[in-house]
Amino acid sequence: MTVRRIVFLGSAIAGIVLSAMPVITGEGGIAVQPHHLDHAVLMLFGAIAGLALYTRRDDRESPPWLWVAVLCPLIAMLLMSPSLYAVVDRSPWLHALDHLVFVALAIVTAYAGQRYVRGVGVASALLLESMAVVAAFGYGVAPAATHLRAPAVAAQQAAPAGNVAHGKVLFAQNCAACHGASGQGGMGPPLKDEAARKNLAEAQAWIKKPAPPMPMLYPNPLSAKDVADVAAFVESLK
Ligand code: HEC
Repeated sequence: MTVRRIVFLGSAIAGIVLSAMPVITGEGGIAVQPHHLDHAVLMLFGAIAGLALYTRRDDRESPPWLWVAVLCPLIAMLLMSPSLYAVVDRSPWLHALDHLVFVALAIVTAYAGQRYVRGVGVASALLLESMAVVAAFGYGVAPAATHLRAPAVAAQQAAPAGNVAHGKVLFAQNCAACHGASGQGGMGPPLKDEAARKNLAEAQAWIKKPAPPMPMLYPNPLSAKDVADVAAFVESLK
């Protein structure tokens, strides 16, 4: 085995293992910023693998690859858009798949850059990496997505505040069987750090109209006031 192959396999495997973390650890409610930095690490492994994939035999200037090297980072940034979280967070498997796509995009970005002109792969990989890192700090796609979420934020202000103490009682009676006594999860997903996924208005809307298999408990047995209370409790879970 050549060094190049070892580097390729090593970093591709590291990228794949890291991608599977949501499945391995069962999604321990990680905050958005470190999570995005994880994406940057995933992509770094992918980029190294992509650079290692390139051989001198491929060394012929090939303009169409530039398109690939430019488009892949763009797709990666779109995939990081917060508006997609809700869907992806539903299942650790979907999430791991999302990560694998990042690794694949990074491999292709670096390899395609090299195929265009040797050396460009390093530049395109660095570009992808820096976009991932700045996205973790809220630049790039994030502000646009925040803007998209503006109506939900407005609804947040209009959402009735709930009584957390009463919500706790209701939670024990109606929700704990699936979500665990302290929201640690069970048959239903963990609700710790739910506030990072859904704001108060979104939590209320979800409880009023959940997707199966979560049962609809509104308007019976929970009233609108009960929903506000239990949502306030859920939002307080850390
Ligand atoms: C029969 C089991 C069951 C009960 C009872 C139940 N849930 Fe759920 N809940 C689920 C399942 C399963 C999901 C995931 C559904 C999905 O993602 O499509 C879920 C999802 C949720 C979510 C969304 C989590 C996310 O992805 O952001 C919230 C919030 C929630 N439940 C709150 C509650 C509250 C509050 C109650 C009690 C009033 C409750 N649930 C009762 C099974 C249950």
